[in-house]
Amino acid sequence: MFKIAVLPGDGIGPEVMAEGMKVLNALSENYSVKFDFQEFDINSERYLRTGDLLTENDVEQLRKFDTIFLGAVGDDRVKPGVLEKGILLALRFSFDQYINHRPAPLWKPFGRLKRDVDFNIDVFRENTEDYYIGAGGRISNGKGVIDMRVKRELYDIKVRLEANADAADDYAFEIGMMSRKNIERFADFVIDYANNIGESYITVVDKANVCSNIYSLWREVWVEKCKRAHKELGFMYVDAMTMALVKNPDKFRVIGVPNMFGDIITDLLAEVTGGLGLAPGGNINPRGISMFEPVHGSAPKYKGLGRINPVATILAAKMMLDNLGRRDLGRWSSMVCARPSTRACSPKTWAGRPRPTRWATRSWRPFKI
Ligand code: IPM
Ligand code: MN
Repeated sequence: MFKIAVLPGDGIGPEVMAEGMKVLNALSENYSVKFDFQEFDINSERYLRTGDLLTENDVEQLRKFDTIFLGAVGDDRVKPGVLEKGILLALRFSFDQYINHRPAPLWKPFGRLKRDVDFNIDVFRENTEDYYIGAGGRISNGKGVIDMRVKRELYDIKVRLEANADAADDYAFEIGMMSRKNIERFADFVIDYANNIGESYITVVDKANVCSNIYSLWREVWVEKCKRAHKELGFMYVDAMTMALVKNPDKFRVIGVPNMFGDIITDLLAEVTGGLGLAPGGNINPRGISMFEPVHGSAPKYKGLGRINPVATILAAKMMLDNLGRRDLGRWSSMVCARPSTRACSPKTWAGRPRPTRWATRSWRPFKI
């Protein structure tokens, strides 16, 4: 019996979650597995009604579950950032989900590239630091102090920024931060994953030629870790990476990327593989409670139209089952996704049908350091 916290969220979240739940229910009807679902209204409606985002009580309740299954968060009626930071990022940070695994296999018939290339990329996006820590602020008239605090399971750090400009203007700051221990555990996870799939090469993305304070620490740790693990490592600047992912996606197999650039390249890759409607993601805490969600957002303008592809959510459920140790079941739900279709969510319906994706096993080295 798996206890699953279900958070449909906003916009089209509830619609795609309903399809994901059909798959999970069909699995429990046909296979030896039971799910205990409990739905939570941690969403914009509740926020607009009560002013509550993710509360301490929510976190306490969610701690009783094996895993979290999330639809989407975001609502046009609320200022950008409030729900995203107050709910989605708060969930990722509260449960210390420091890895965001976003698989990007080519969905053969739907790939957007003109050239016939086969690829299967696993992107690992760092998920609790970088420019996502929410630290920063504004000063007016060129003078001021900004007090910031970042609280994680690994640390609780207070940072003070004192500004004194010679021009009385408004200045805004967004502070990025990385910590050695977090990069280390993140790199360990990615290296383990590469070992498990027999991949000897890892591509690491950053912008160390410009943000050289933050990404020199990132690089330092990657070099140490890969050396110790006898892994080959190649660094790519994120601008060149976006180009390479469109031009030669088959050159990549395992990618490690900081939070912000990871957000960007996974949308790009989702489109290249076949569309955002097919892209799932897992927010992973290997020793805690993980959370699975589609990569796409709440798409409010499509709400209620029944036009949103639920496959990303169904594949997120597959990742969730894999993570819960039931890879056997995960395979069935990926069969359900053999075609993007909202109908027929019984695993039996699709049994025996071929999967459209030939999972690439080949890997190619972008360049060596
Ligand atoms: C994603 C989303 C979020 C992110 C937003 C909604 C905070 O774009 O999951 O990719 O930037 O991580
Ligand atoms: Mn995103």
